[in-house]
Amino acid sequence: MGARKKTGILISGRGSNMQALVKAARDPAFPAEIVVVISNRASASGLDFAKAEGIATEVVDHKAHASREAFDAELDAALKRHGAELVACAGFMRIMTEGFVQRWRDRMINIHPSLLPAYKGLHTHERALADKVTRHGCSVHFVRSDVDSGPLIAQASVPVLKSDTPETLAARVLDAEHKIYPRALAVVASGAVRVEGETLVAAKPGLHIPLTIP
Ligand code: GAR
Repeated sequence: MGARKKTGILISGRGSNMQALVKAARDPAFPAEIVVVISNRASASGLDFAKAEGIATEVVDHKAHASREAFDAELDAALKRHGAELVACAGFMRIMTEGFVQRWRDRMINIHPSLLPAYKGLHTHERALADKVTRHGCSVHFVRSDVDSGPLIAQASVPVLKSDTPETLAARVLDAEHKIYPRALAVVASGAVRVEGETLVAAKPGLHIPLTIP
């Protein structure tokens, strides 16, 4: 096995996806090692979990920076200080500058609670229910400057039940997020995929991209 890819995780709140990644990376055979968890909010409860795991944490408060550029520069500096080679956004609710996205191009991934390209943006579960779709889910993708777009790495779909509320549907999707995000990080960190322009290509025979669950 090659060296594990040093990965920084960006969060804004609860951090349950971050926890799923950290738990997967407890296995020394997992191809990514979590080197830092960074939050833009000091009150993010996910920080406590990371600390308890013995992972370095940082708070880069967006409100303490005069511009998006200044905030992103500090974020970039924090990632570099910890030697991050990959970035995984996990419920990180800030829009990034073009410069930051370019610096981490093809090295930064995000999880979004919809089957992209459907339902970019916020309130995905409410919108899926309003449309009466029968399947909904989540996607992991490389980050581009257009919000919630970029080469797809993995998708998991779940049924939408007639009795669903935004909360019950969100919980079913979140469960799928926790399964798919570690798998997506693993294929990226292990070099099993490579990005060619806007297309993701499997570098391993027999690997189908995007990964799909179920
Ligand atoms: C997750 O559902 C994630 O997909 C979503 O926020 C939640 C964070 O939960 N992300 C976005 O909407 C990003 N556009 P978590 O903090 O428990 O991982």
